[in-house]
Amino acid sequence: MKLFRSTLLLMLVASTVPAGVLAILFLWAPQHGAGFVLVATGLGLLLSLGLSAWFARGLSRDVSRVVVGALEIARGRFGRQVPVTARNELGELAYTFNHMSRELLSYDQENRRLIAALEAGYLATIQSLASAIDAKDPYTRGHSQRVSYWSVEIGRELGLPDEELKALEYGGLLHDIGKIGIAEPILRKASALTADEMAAMRGHPAIGAEILKDVEFLRAAARAVRSHHERWDGQGYPEGLVGESIPLVARIVNAADTWDACRSHRPYQQAMSVEEALAVTDRLRGTQLDPTVHAALVRVMRRRHAISEEPEAGRGIAPPAPHP
Ligand SMILES: [Fe+2]
Repeated sequence: MKLFRSTLLLMLVASTVPAGVLAILFLWAPQHGAGFVLVATGLGLLLSLGLSAWFARGLSRDVSRVVVGALEIARGRFGRQVPVTARNELGELAYTFNHMSRELLSYDQENRRLIAALEAGYLATIQSLASAIDAKDPYTRGHSQRVSYWSVEIGRELGLPDEELKALEYGGLLHDIGKIGIAEPILRKASALTADEMAAMRGHPAIGAEILKDVEFLRAAARAVRSHHERWDGQGYPEGLVGESIPLVARIVNAADTWDACRSHRPYQQAMSVEEALAVTDRLRGTQLDPTVHAALVRVMRRRHAISEEPEAGRGIAPPAPHP
């Protein structure tokens, strides 16, 4: 009611000022004529107008400050404080608003801390899963971690947003998780796989996607898992997708997977040098590898290994044996 009382008082003052001024002037100089009455009335009205404007300005300024503060909160900028000191309902509103804003900031910070802790827990779980996959084959130890690392580096080179980089990190770590469903003798077999064994092995992207399909925060990563053996020219599996119909995260994980296959010791090959691996990926550009992703991979590797634009070594080297 304070705002009501002060408004009522002001309105009373503003409306009675002209009458008061007139009365005083008539008492002081009753002999003056109509012109004097008009001037006195005008002065009284001006005074009344000034008082009303002063009050209205103060009222609207305080309301505006609260509105601006509310808009800041709506934009997620919690903690904003409104500098209103009026001792009326507006002051109480500002005080309540400031308290609410501090509370929201506190909840927001707590939520962020919890989300960060949850993500750290997720990541630790995923890393354990990835290690379990790699441990099934001594030749692929650390492979998932490296594919994850290079996938993120290529994603950064392509200017992808944080959300996509997270999908690349998780997708790289989990790209072969479907191998959990493949018999160990097939995984460990050093010689060429039979047609049946190859068919079983080629089921691992679909198995991996099936494992992850109900995990909400891995939805984007699951696309990389399902399609990391698709090829730019449509000759990959499991669906034979072509070009940009293959999810970008999968094209990037495919490139990182190929790079690490080139650079790792396998039963069927010695690890290649950086120049040799660059030459191999160069030959796969436009067939297996997306040319844009390949270009980003090359830039990352040249920068990382500080090598010149035209590597001399490694020309004519065959691509690594296909990783089923
Ligand atoms: Fe794979």
